[in-house]
Amino acid sequence: MKTNSFLVLSTLIAVWLMGSVLSNDYITFNNLVLPPSVTGPQSAAFDRAGEGPYVTVADGRILKWKGSAIGFVDFAYTSPSRTKILCDGTNDLDLGPTCGRPVALSFNYKTSDLYITDAFFGLLVVGFTGGLATQLSGGYKYLSGIDVESYTGSVYMTDASLTYNIIDLAQPGFTPDSTGRLLKYDPMTQLVTVLLSGLTGAGGPTVSSDRKYVLVPEYVTKKIQRYWLQGPTKDTHDIFMNVSGSPNNIKRAANDGEFWVALENQAQGLRVNGSDSMVLQTVPLAQFSRVAVNVVQEMNGALYVGSSRTNFVGVYTN
Ligand SMILES: *[C@@H]1O[C@H](CO)[C@@H](O)[C@H](O)[C@H]1NC(C)=O
Ligand SMILES: *[C@@H]1O[C@H](CO)[C@@H](O)[C@H](O)[C@H]1NC(C)=O
Repeated sequence: MKTNSFLVLSTLIAVWLMGSVLSNDYITFNNLVLPPSVTGPQSAAFDRAGEGPYVTVADGRILKWKGSAIGFVDFAYTSPSRTKILCDGTNDLDLGPTCGRPVALSFNYKTSDLYITDAFFGLLVVGFTGGLATQLSGGYKYLSGIDVESYTGSVYMTDASLTYNIIDLAQPGFTPDSTGRLLKYDPMTQLVTVLLSGLTGAGGPTVSSDRKYVLVPEYVTKKIQRYWLQGPTKDTHDIFMNVSGSPNNIKRAANDGEFWVALENQAQGLRVNGSDSMVLQTVPLAQFSRVAVNVVQEMNGALYVGSSRTNFVGVYTN
C-alpha cells in the first residue's frame, strides 16, 4: 500500500515536471486533405466570420475549406491567363507565370478584402466573393509573406530577395542571399515603401495586436526582427528574439500580445510572449517531421499547420 501510493505520487510529480517543459497540448491530429494531386498549402487564413481556412496552393489557386462533407473548393486565383485545364493539380513551377503561385494571405477584417502575395504576380487583392484577384503592385523577384493591419488597412509584406525567385530557391543546395526586404503598401496612396532591407531568408511578418510594431523572421540567421511603428523608437528596428530553429512565419496567437512562430525544419510551433520575447510553449508537430513547416495559425483552440510540401493542412487540437 505504502509502495503503491509512493509510486503514484512520484509518477504524478514526473508527469507534472515533464508537462512544464514539453507541451502536452495539441496532441490530437487531423488533416484537411486537398483535392487530388494538389499540394503546397503554405498559408491558412480565416475570414471575419471565422470561415476557412483559405489556403494558397502550388497550382495557383486559393482554396477555401467548407467542412469535411464538402472539402476544399475554388475561391480565387491570381493569374489572368490561368486555365483550369492547364493548371489544376500542377506543381510545375515553370508554369507559374501562367498559373500563378500565391504564397501568403491576409484578410482586411474591416473590408473583408483578401490580400495575397504571389511569387510571380506580386501583391494582389480580391473581394469576399473571390474570383480573379486584382494586381496592386508588381515587379518583384519573390514577394512572399504578408499581414494586413486592419485598423489602417496598411499591408506589410516581405520581398524575399532582389536577386532570386521561387524557381531558383527550389534548386538543390540553394542558399538565400541578404537582399530581403520588409515593405509597406499604403492603400490610400497606393505607394510601397521599404521599411527594412538586408534581410536573409525573410519569412512572413505580423503586426502586434496593439499595432506598435511588426515582427519579421529571418530563417537563415534564426532571428526575428522588430520594426517599431509607434512610440519613441518609431521607424527604428531591433532584434525581438534569437530562435533555436529557422523561423518561417509569425502569426498573432489567440491570447492578446502573443505570437506563434513556425520553425521550418524543426517541425515545431513556438508560442511567444510579445512583451518579453519568452517562449511560453513549444508544440512538436510530429506529422511534419520530414517536411518544412511554413505556418502555424491558431483558430478556435486549434493549430492549423501549412507546408509547401504536403497535400493537406494539419490540424492539432487538444
Ligand atoms: C541575439 O544574438 C545576437 C548575437 O548573435 C546578440 O547580439 C543579441 O543581443 C541577441 N538578441 C536577443 C534579443 O537575444
Ligand atoms: C509576458 O511578459 C510580461 C512582461 O514580462 C509579463 O508581465 C506577463 O506575465 C507575461 N505573460 C505570460 C503569459 O507569461
